Amino acid sequence: MRRSRSADIEISMDSIAILDFGSQYAQIIARRVREAQVYCELFPWDAPIEQILAIQPKGFILSGGPKSVYEEGAPYIQDFIFKTGLPILGICYGMQALTRALGGQVDPSAQREYGYAEIEPLIHNSLISNLSTVWMSHGDRITKLPEGFVALAGSGNSPFAAIGDMKRKYFGVQFHPEVHHTPNGEKLLKHFVVDICSVKPNWTPASIIEDSIARVRKQVGNERVLAAVSGGVDSSVAAALVHKAIGDQLVAVFVDTGLLRKNEGEQVASAFRKYLGAELLTIEASDEFFTALKGVTEPEEKRKIVGEKFIRVFEGQAKQLGQPKFLVQGTIYPDVVESSAPDRNKAERIKTHHNVGGLPEDIQFELVEPLRYLFKDEVRAVGEALGLPESLVWRQPFPGPGLTVRCLGEVTRERVSRLRAADAILIEELSKAGFLSKRLPGSSSNLMASPLGTTEQTHVSQAFVVLLPVRSVGVMGDQRTYQEAVAIRAVTTEDFMTADWAHLPQDLLAKVSNRIVNEVDGINRVVYDITSKPPATIEWE
Ligand code: XMP
Repeated sequence: MRRSRSADIEISMDSIAILDFGSQYAQIIARRVREAQVYCELFPWDAPIEQILAIQPKGFILSGGPKSVYEEGAPYIQDFIFKTGLPILGICYGMQALTRALGGQVDPSAQREYGYAEIEPLIHNSLISNLSTVWMSHGDRITKLPEGFVALAGSGNSPFAAIGDMKRKYFGVQFHPEVHHTPNGEKLLKHFVVDICSVKPNWTPASIIEDSIARVRKQVGNERVLAAVSGGVDSSVAAALVHKAIGDQLVAVFVDTGLLRKNEGEQVASAFRKYLGAELLTIEASDEFFTALKGVTEPEEKRKIVGEKFIRVFEGQAKQLGQPKFLVQGTIYPDVVESSAPDRNKAERIKTHHNVGGLPEDIQFELVEPLRYLFKDEVRAVGEALGLPESLVWRQPFPGPGLTVRCLGEVTRERVSRLRAADAILIEELSKAGFLSKRLPGSSSNLMASPLGTTEQTHVSQAFVVLLPVRSVGVMGDQRTYQEAVAIRAVTTEDFMTADWAHLPQDLLAKVSNRIVNEVDGINRVVYDITSKPPATIEWE
C-alpha cells in the first residue's frame, strides 16, 4: 500500500517543529501549540534535516526526555537546527540539551524533583510573566549557563528554572508548561510560537478544511475514491471532507456486520444523506459474520475473525465497484506519531485494538488520509464546521470488532439482539437524564448528583451493556427463571487510558435495571461494574 509521507504534503501555513527526545508529553506539547491555532509537527530528535525543514518551521520546541545528557547514546540537538538561526524553546531535557550544546554545564541534582514547584521571576520577561506554580519532573539540573544566557526564573531546587538568550531567541524551561499541572503553561507556549517565532495563528477548522480540500483534489484528480464508513467519528469526518472536495467521485460504503448498536446503520446513512447530500451504500453482511463466529468464545479469536471477514467483504465490494484506485482512511495524527516515535517502553499488548477497516498491505489502493495531521479534538472541530450532526461528531468510541467484544461467550444473532436491546435502554435513560452531553471527555457542562445529595461536576465518557456468559436463577410472577445476566459499564475518563467508573445516581441505575429485565426477553439480572481502569479495562474483552 502506498502511503503519503510528511514531505509529500505541502502545508501552506507557518509552522513549528517539535523535536521529541523521548518524552511522554511530546504529543501534549503539539496539542497545546495547535490549540494556539499554530500548525506544528512532531519529529523524532534525529529525524533527517530534509524532513524537518520540509514543513518550513519558524521555530523549534525541544521536548523533555528520560535520559541524562551525558549518558552514552543520549539524544542531542542536530547542528543544522542552530544553523537555521530560528528561535528555540527547550523543555526539561530539551533545555539541558540546549545548555550542553552551547557550552553550559548540566549536573545530577542532589535530589530528583518531581511534582509541583513555585517559581520566582528573576527579571521581567513576558515568556514567564503569567507563571508561578509549575510542574517539575527531572533528575539533572543546569549548574552553569552557556554564554549569552541569563536566568529568567528560579525555584527552590533549580536556580535556573527558566533561562533565555534574548539576542538569539533561545529559551529553556526546567518545568513542563504543556501539562495541566502548570497553570498558564499554555500561555508560555503560545507566547513562544506567536510572539517570539512570529507565526500567524491561522490554523482553524476553516483553514484546515480549505487546505485538505486542495490536497485531496490534487491527489485524486478525476479518479473514483472509495471510503469505508464505520459510524465512528474519524471515518465519518474523513469521508465528509473528501466528499466536500470531490462530491460524487466518492463512493462511501457502510458494511452492516450485524454487530452494531441499535439503529446505528440507519443513523449514519441518514446523517450522510441529510447533512452531506451523499448516499451511503449499505452492504448487508450479517449472515457471513455470524456464520464465521459460530462456536467461537475466545476474545482475541473473535476480534481476528471479525477483522478478516470485514476485509473480505470489503474487497468483494470494491471489485463490484470496478476497483477504484483510491481509498479514504481515517488515520489521525496520534497513530502517525506513535509509529515513528523514538523508542519508549513499548506497552505490552493487552488486546488487539485493530479497527475493522484496517485493511491489509496486499490491498491495491492508494490511501487518501485527510486527517493524517489532526488530533482528535481537531477532527471533531472540523466535523462540526462541515455541518455534521452532534450525534456523529461527539459519538462515544465504539470498538472496531463491534458488539462481539461485549457479547461474552458465543456470539449468536439471538444473544447480540438481546444485548443490543438492553444497551439501547441504558443509552436512552442516560441520555434522557443528561449524562451523555456533547463534549464527552473534559466536559464540565454536565452536573451529576451524587447519591449523597451533593452535586459534583462530572460526565459519562462511555457507557454500554455487556452480556455475560452466565445464567442465574430468578423469579418472575411466581415463575422460576434461569436466564442470562448483563453488566452495565459506565466510565468517566479524559483519555481512555485510565478511567473511573461513573458514580451514577442509584435511582437511575434502578430504572435501567427494571426496564432491562422487564423489556428484554432472556435477561433476569443486571449488575453494575464498579472497577476502574486499571486494574480492569473499559471493555470486558
Ligand atoms: P479498553 O477496553 O482497552 O478500551 O480499556 C479503551 C478504549 O478503546 C476502545 N476499544 C477499541 N477501539 N478497536 C477500537 O477502535 C478496538 O478493537 C477496541 N477495543 C476497545 C474502548 O471502547 C475504549 O473506548
